[in-house]
Amino acid sequence: MTCKQAEQIANLINARNGLLPHVTTEDVFKNQTEYLFRSIEITGEIYACVRIKKLSWYLAAHLAVAKTHQNQGNAADLLEQCIAVAKDQGARLLSCTVKAENSISKRLFLSKGFMYVNSFVNEITGNRLNVYHKDLNG
Ligand SMILES: CC(C)(COP(=O)(O)OP(=O)(O)OC[C@H]1O[C@@H](n2cnc3c(N)ncnc32)[C@H](O)[C@@H]1OP(=O)(O)O)[C@@H](O)C(=O)NCCC(=O)NCCS
Repeated sequence: MTCKQAEQIANLINARNGLLPHVTTEDVFKNQTEYLFRSIEITGEIYACVRIKKLSWYLAAHLAVAKTHQNQGNAADLLEQCIAVAKDQGARLLSCTVKAENSISKRLFLSKGFMYVNSFVNEITGNRLNVYHKDLNG
């Protein structure tokens, strides 16, 4: 990953996911091995990304698709890829958090076999987040 790609990914996540604190280019670059992304072949512009975050378990984070490339199956494909990579790395559980009002994302994760676990309120943003788990055994 180049610095320019890291910057594009940080910009995409910050524009689409509204995380606080914002994701920085430096953070993306430092954790570059954890990112999957898609770019336009000719221009190199990145339009979709996801981070496979390794904690003591695996977290699918920062899933973002540019408005220009929405509703074309990019997130569904990236999520499939994310599940395959996590499995390859020996993960048994992949989790994610989704804002409670984000019905598109909730439906997407459920359709990929994630199960609702619980919800909590992020004290910084005030957002209610739903937690989903996918069992990768078998
Ligand atoms: C949520 C998001 C990642 C989906 O990306 P995407 O590439 O458009 O999704 P896909 O094309 O793979 O579609 C996945 C499902 O969502 C549906 N969908 C996608 N965009 C939609 C829209 N604008 N309105 C209604 N349904 C939509 C698709 O029809 C598909 O459902 P189906 O499998 O039942 O047909 C994207 O909208 C996004 O980046 N949103 C802002 C950031 C965000 O919410 N990230 C998720 C954090 S958990």
